Amino acid sequence: MRYLVAAACAVGLAIGASGATAPAFAADPIVLKFSHVVAPNTPKGKGADKFKELGEKYTDGKVKIEIYPNSQLYKDKEELEALQLGSVQMLAPSLAKFGPLGAKEFEVFDLPFLFPSVAALEKIQKGPIGKELFKKLESKGIEGLAYWDNGFKIFSGDRPIKVPDDLLGMKIRIQSSKVLEAQMKAYGAVPQVMAFSEVYQGLQTGVVDGQENTPSNMYTQKMHEVQKYGALTNHGYIGYAVIVNKKFWDGLPADIRGQLEKAMAEATAYSNGISQKENADALEAMKKSGKIEFYTPTEGDLKKWRAASKPVWDEVSGRIGKDLLKKVEAEVGAK
Ligand code: LMR
Repeated sequence: MRYLVAAACAVGLAIGASGATAPAFAADPIVLKFSHVVAPNTPKGKGADKFKELGEKYTDGKVKIEIYPNSQLYKDKEELEALQLGSVQMLAPSLAKFGPLGAKEFEVFDLPFLFPSVAALEKIQKGPIGKELFKKLESKGIEGLAYWDNGFKIFSGDRPIKVPDDLLGMKIRIQSSKVLEAQMKAYGAVPQVMAFSEVYQGLQTGVVDGQENTPSNMYTQKMHEVQKYGALTNHGYIGYAVIVNKKFWDGLPADIRGQLEKAMAEATAYSNGISQKENADALEAMKKSGKIEFYTPTEGDLKKWRAASKPVWDEVSGRIGKDLLKKVEAEVGAK
């Protein structure tokens, strides 16, 4: 019996090898791994899923897009290294995370109270400055494809926060950014760099006393369950650069790259279109949970926040580039 099976297999192989009756095997799809650190139900998570849906549709299955959310593959710093090594092909790190890569100009987006609205940010990102910044990534083997919004940051803590002085001595988790470090020091807080995936536990165990982030990031990481107080300061911005490994991207057949570019343009419009509502909904959900109490700063409180933040602009202007900062200030009508 064993011989019979073996013989049948041999015949099958021979027929296959003759060519005439060989099944038409489709070429293996190109695999594009897109790794990110946030939950799927956030503006970035939903944007990534939309890109997968459209990218696979437009390339007619020739590209398989795999999405890895929630730091499943890599944490903050590691993901940029993985992209450069080609272990993943696409990421959307927050703009704050480009400074440690040597692209310090991106830290302009971290400056507190510089941008009056998401529209002002989009104006910069879609204009010549946004394009210039992407050029700075090319020598690092990275190509920038799009800017995605999240939204404005609020504070949370284990004690009430109304004005900057309330942060005095508090250990506040930040992303790895020199601007954010200077900002926390300006408020008298103690900045602690921590990977995004570790923030919930850091807050829960008291390794840090508070943090700053967008409502959608806070809610989807359940930070409101381990923080009693929040302050709706909207003091700074979190947005993303969607980036690819340049060698991978340049090596794609031109028609496929074009189809993926189309998918990216549409996913960008989709993600940017939902980001403000996603954050508003997340804030509502946190309020409804009854687990965290939010303070809305008065105009007087906001004056104090702005006054405490402004010196940071001068302090870091050397890092970011004085000319760039001046241009951005002028573009957004900063005061
Ligand atoms: C953070 O580390 O707080 C954020 O950059 C996470 C993200 O990607 O939104």
